[in-house]
Amino acid sequence: MPAIDPDLIPADLFPVIDALCATGAQLSAVIARGPLGQSLGAGVGENSDGDQQKALDVMADEMFEAALKPAGVRHYASEEQEVVLTLDAAGPYALAIDPLDGSSNIDVNVTIGTIFSIFDAVADPTASFLRPASEQIAAGYIAYGPQTLLAVTFGAGTLLYVLDPETGRFVLASEAMVLPVAAKEYSINASNRRHWTAPVLAYVEECEAGETGAKGKTMNFRWVGSLVAETHRILTRGGTFLYPSDARKGYEKGRLRMVYEVAPMAFLVEQAGGQATDGKTPILSLQAGALHERCPLVFGSAEEVARIAALHG
Ligand code: AHG
Ligand code: MN
Ligand code: MN
Ligand code: MN
Repeated sequence: MPAIDPDLIPADLFPVIDALCATGAQLSAVIARGPLGQSLGAGVGENSDGDQQKALDVMADEMFEAALKPAGVRHYASEEQEVVLTLDAAGPYALAIDPLDGSSNIDVNVTIGTIFSIFDAVADPTASFLRPASEQIAAGYIAYGPQTLLAVTFGAGTLLYVLDPETGRFVLASEAMVLPVAAKEYSINASNRRHWTAPVLAYVEECEAGETGAKGKTMNFRWVGSLVAETHRILTRGGTFLYPSDARKGYEKGRLRMVYEVAPMAFLVEQAGGQATDGKTPILSLQAGALHERCPLVFGSAEEVARIAALHG
């Protein structure tokens, strides 16, 4: 029994998407038990990006790696692994994954997720991922929240599936998500304000001025701390998200990683009619120079992303 309704999934990619969904359903059950099961939020080490690894980060990575091995994935690049792993030397795909996104929210019962990006594999493992984001053939996220759901694109719109807990199967909920062109909400880690560049500060000040400023309308502020949760909210009802470069050491390119966070979210958002840039340049025209490289990310409602680009001159 497949873990997802197969009708709209390209047949050659189906084994990969099915393996992701089967593992997502298992993880969802582990996450739902929280403290009744094994310890999920305990610190267990540090990854190559300097992030603290929690037990669930490592467990999710191991589960996806094992499930994707027989699914046609040749190269596996994970946030939690320093180098690309070869899972099946004959497999056609290169898959990048953030196995568990939003790990600071594990212990507080707030939405967390999994993000993935798929390319056609080329011979060199790392070179398979250091390509323009526009060469992705699929991208998606699984959100573990009040509902467990999958948003996925194969380059022909963004599809939404919801996990039916009664059957353990992801069922189609929308064939074409539409990200509203206008926004009423913005998201940025406001505690970093003192480090921001002038264009980012100018945009936030416009939002804060609300109906008394250039926008002429109130803008609400939201920050969850899980990229998957912010992206799902914005895909559903519009808004903007910024994780810009800032003046902190190590944040010259923001916080988010190009290969397994920025590129897949940009593909999903653009396929739903939104836009994604690094502040100015479309993410889909950019490529990472190294596997764990970061990239500033601005995405959301087209009008707002264009306004932010204009402020960047
Ligand atoms: P991860 O848990 O995979 O390391 O990703 C965390 C990311 C992202 O989910 C979120 O948008 C951002 O980091 C939160 O950043 P702050 O720590 O600045 O809030
Ligand atoms: Mn991390
Ligand atoms: Mn992440
Ligand atoms: Mn992660």
